[in-house]
Amino acid sequence: MEGFDRIIEEVFAEVKAINDLGEVASYIPELLNVDAQKFGVYLTSISEFKYGKGNFTEKFSIQSISKVLSLSLAYSILGESIWSRLGVEPSGTSYNSLIQLETDRGIPRNPFINAGAIVISDILISNLKDYKNEFLNFVRKLSGGKPIDYSNKIATSERSVGYRNVALCNFIKSFGNIENDPSEVLDFYFDICSLEMSCIELSETFLFLANNGINPHNNEQVLTKSQSKRMNALMQTCGFYDESGEFAFKVGLPGKSGVGGGIVAVHPGHYVITVWSPKLNRKGNSFKGMQFLEKFTTESTLSIF
Ligand code: DON
Repeated sequence: MEGFDRIIEEVFAEVKAINDLGEVASYIPELLNVDAQKFGVYLTSISEFKYGKGNFTEKFSIQSISKVLSLSLAYSILGESIWSRLGVEPSGTSYNSLIQLETDRGIPRNPFINAGAIVISDILISNLKDYKNEFLNFVRKLSGGKPIDYSNKIATSERSVGYRNVALCNFIKSFGNIENDPSEVLDFYFDICSLEMSCIELSETFLFLANNGINPHNNEQVLTKSQSKRMNALMQTCGFYDESGEFAFKVGLPGKSGVGGGIVAVHPGHYVITVWSPKLNRKGNSFKGMQFLEKFTTESTLSIF
């Protein structure tokens, strides 16, 4: 990975100077308290190349990026049987859409839209005793023991306005695809979304997906080789909602975004790169994050295409 520090420096400077046409997510009141000018990048590779630029050590709200982590835990516990509860097809709709659930009879299209992640939260509650702590420990282990936690402030803020997610959960329950009490499922879902991590922590945490499902920090096989391949396939096809095609077209890596302005992208067998810039484009993905990754994979030729 020689020379990639220089490419990161150059692309970072170029994108920093671009006029940011995005807007900070406002539907979760607490997210508005972030400094919109923050911009951080961190790359970590299987070969132990590491490089960061900007605000890469600062924690932010990872929001939907956590959907990859909750799915990984559920997948590691239950294996392929989870696919009887949700699909693996891109939805082509926004992350919080209710539309397809009616025709699909409560089976979410994929685990990365809110509906799918709510079903995953339900699965974790049914299968773990101390689910909040067990999920946190799972993430901390993946990160190599970093001090990662939920944000009570963010979760409380989202709970106070989470009407759409309440609707989604109850709607899915009406079709019989939620086993537990909707208020308990939503409470856990909001906690999962409230995780706070820095670019460095996120990159280190996602490295197992670049490493055939093996946590490089302790050599534990978290997911099988097949499951790891499938996780990357899902990120490639569903990680950006109705902008997933665009992300593949421009960036060419499996990835996942969150409304906190973070994006994680994985090059299987090679590296993980995380970008954070809070202002979002109209599809809910980081405006500068998308630009940075497009320029980075083009200049470095490090995409899967
Ligand atoms: O449920 C929500 O709406 C948020 N907690 C997460 C949404 C999100 O991050 C979608 N990502 N782009």
